[in-house]
Amino acid sequence: MNILIRTAALALSLLLAACGGGAGNSAAEGPLAGASIGGPFTLTDQDGKRVSDTAFAGKYRLVYFGYTYCPDVCPVDLQKLMAGLRVLEKSDPAVAARIQPLFISIDPDRDTPAVLKSYVAAFHPRLIGLTGTPAEIAAVAKSFGVYYHKQQQDGAAEYLVDHSRATYLFGPDGKPIALIPEDGTPAEIAAELKRWAGG
Ligand code: NI
Repeated sequence: MNILIRTAALALSLLLAACGGGAGNSAAEGPLAGASIGGPFTLTDQDGKRVSDTAFAGKYRLVYFGYTYCPDVCPVDLQKLMAGLRVLEKSDPAVAARIQPLFISIDPDRDTPAVLKSYVAAFHPRLIGLTGTPAEIAAVAKSFGVYYHKQQQDGAAEYLVDHSRATYLFGPDGKPIALIPEDGTPAEIAAELKRWAGG
C-alpha cells in the first residue's frame, strides 16, 4: 500500500513539476513496472567520448534528465540524489557500487561535454553527464518518456528549458524498475536505492 501511495504521489509530482515552469509532461503515463521506458542509446559523455547504453550492462542505472543551466530544480535534485548515493556508499558500499548515476542533458545546444564535465563533478565523482546532437537527445528523451521544450524569446541569448522531472532506476538489464523520489532526504533516497538494487 505504501508503494502504491508513493507511486501515485510520484506520478502526481511528474505531472506538476517542470523546470522553467509551464507546460505538461508526457512522462506521466506509466512509470515503473511494465512501462516502455528506456532503450538503446549512444551519446557523448563529459570527456567527449561516445558512450552507449551497453556500456552499463550489468549495472543499475540511476537516470536523471535535465540541463546545467537549470536555475533551480535540477541542481537541487542532483544534490539530493547524489547525497543519497553517498549515504548508500557508506552503509552498503557493494550495493552503491552497482549503481551508475547518469545525467542526460535535454539542452544539447549549451550542454557541451566541457560544460557537463565541471557540472557533474560538482555533484558526485561517479556521475556521468551525457549530451549529444539535438536529434540524439530528442530520440533518447522520447524513448525515456521525457518531455522538454526550449522557452526562448525572440532575440534573447538566455533561455529556460521546460522539462519533465523524473528520476528513473533501471536494472542491470536496462529495464525500468522504479522512480526514485528525488525530493526525498538523502536517507530516504538511499533506502529506495537499496530496496531495488540491494537484493
Ligand atoms: Ni531542471
